[in-house]
Amino acid sequence: MSPSAAAVATNQSDDSDLQQTILKLANLKPIGQGRSNKSIETGPQLEWLEKLPQPTRNRFEKYGIDLSRGYPIIPDNKDIPKFVDEAFEIRNKEYPYIERGKNADPEKKALFGAATEVIDLTKHIGTEIVGLQLSDLNDKQKDELALLVAERVVVFFRDQDLSPQKQLELGNYWGQVERHPQAPHVPLNNTTDPEEIAKGSGISVIWRHFFNEFYGFKPSFKKGGISSGWHTDLVHEFQPAGITHLHNDTIPKTGGDTAWVSGYAAYDKLSPALQQFLDGKEAIFVSAHEYLDRENPLKGPKRIERAHPLVRTHPTTGWKSLFVNRAMTRSIVGLEPEESKVILEYLFQVYEKNLDIQVRFKWQPTKEGLGTSAIWDNRISQHFAIGDYEAEDLRHGTRVTSLAEVPYFDPNSKSQRQALGLSLD
Ligand SMILES: [Fe+2]
Repeated sequence: MSPSAAAVATNQSDDSDLQQTILKLANLKPIGQGRSNKSIETGPQLEWLEKLPQPTRNRFEKYGIDLSRGYPIIPDNKDIPKFVDEAFEIRNKEYPYIERGKNADPEKKALFGAATEVIDLTKHIGTEIVGLQLSDLNDKQKDELALLVAERVVVFFRDQDLSPQKQLELGNYWGQVERHPQAPHVPLNNTTDPEEIAKGSGISVIWRHFFNEFYGFKPSFKKGGISSGWHTDLVHEFQPAGITHLHNDTIPKTGGDTAWVSGYAAYDKLSPALQQFLDGKEAIFVSAHEYLDRENPLKGPKRIERAHPLVRTHPTTGWKSLFVNRAMTRSIVGLEPEESKVILEYLFQVYEKNLDIQVRFKWQPTKEGLGTSAIWDNRISQHFAIGDYEAEDLRHGTRVTSLAEVPYFDPNSKSQRQALGLSLD
């Protein structure tokens, strides 16, 4: 071997030793829970099964959810992506998506005709439908519901007897269901394929009591309880979240409300000059979870980053929506960092401070033993889980998110108020 060939061979083996060491380090402890240093056990959680609130247990048992291995199921450490480039590659290519709301009867006769009452909770956002079971909807009604959600941003259904399986089926109708590589989920895999099992069921667990204790987060009244802050789900995806359906099956008597705010209305709050400036711009969005940078693994966790339009057009309504949120929008592409910071701060505040474009929902059902569903469109909204309940106030839910189209901005699209012929003052 020539001296230079020997040097190359040594370098290659150094390199592979280094990669091996990095991988070993990365596997020592599950990552991605950036706010906590607590070491956690991945996989099914047997100990937590005993703490499952009774109404949730009743629902799961009624619908044959297999809890024998434990609950919730956290993906095994070996299946959790460690590096940000690996996580970025998940669903990093276009897949077919059908915009269901586009096929719907604009008058929504099948959906409204089957309801006993349809209540708009505020002028600009939020509608409650009474007297309908989500599990009974036919495809025509599901299309009409997608249209209603696209128009009203969030739609609520109390007193639901809904199985996790049916919730997943609804989610699959509205788009590709997101299966999270890290998040706790409901066991629902009727497959023995280890790769499929590793991807999770697509039914995420929303259980603050579990999250706080398990991941070692310390809720504090002074810091806003266990609230989530204003955000939009899964904006880092290549095709970010469209419809999310959260079904709460254990609900405290008081506390644990959720608020939503309309992105259409946030856009309409801006001056025409600012609207024009923002139209066509892109922003950088980050993931909620963190991973290691392969090139610089000791530098600490890193989030997935992706560029999307900052004003997007909703495919069903054709209306423009301001697509930013404080938790996950980092910068505006093409601006100096200071410019971007000032403008984004203003845009966040438009969303957060205008109570006339928000709705706050109290989840409580009217009938004991039944749950409540909220179905919202992440393309045109932010939401905020209000953490004003204590550990003894039990709250548990299951969430299914349908991913939507590759976001786009149509320069010919109109704002909601423009399209509806309302005053732009
Ligand atoms: Fe969320």
